[in-house]
Amino acid sequence: MKELNIRIALKIYEYEELNATDRELMDAACEATKRSYAPYSHFSVGAAARLANGIIITGSNQENAAYPSGICAERTTLFYANSQCPDQAVDTLAIAARNERGEFLEAPIPPCGACRQVMLETEKRFKHPMRVLLYGTKGIYELNNIGELLPLSFDASAMR
Ligand code: THU
Repeated sequence: MKELNIRIALKIYEYEELNATDRELMDAACEATKRSYAPYSHFSVGAAARLANGIIITGSNQENAAYPSGICAERTTLFYANSQCPDQAVDTLAIAARNERGEFLEAPIPPCGACRQVMLETEKRFKHPMRVLLYGTKGIYELNNIGELLPLSFDASAMR
């Protein structure tokens, strides 16, 4: 029997410690939560992607009475970014969420598994590491790439 320990590296920042570029992106994700359509979960998520050309694309979760037809903020944002700017890598993705009381979460928002998979595809597609900033009022997590969010991941190379 062998044992494998997978370690991930992340940094935790106070909001005030973010540089101006990351603060702008984080603010855009927080603002995007206001454009969420979440009449069922009352959980408002916002995401903001900074593309390689500097453009910021934002998105939010969009729910539906047929629940599975809704989509998370991260996928709304990445699919929109990739469809508007198919030649631009996503440099950084910032994510924020507010609970049913309208308060930003204290702990950093953990993206769902389906969104992690889509983030991975975007990173692989552009062969460019995608940094991730996860907002929490008590600290912001910075991950250097999607491998750190989704260890032992499945991608096209696994099918060869
Ligand atoms: N949601 C997101 O938008 N992103 C996540 O990473 C987690 C969940 C949305 C989906 C649904 O509209 C609501 O939050 C509750 O799950």
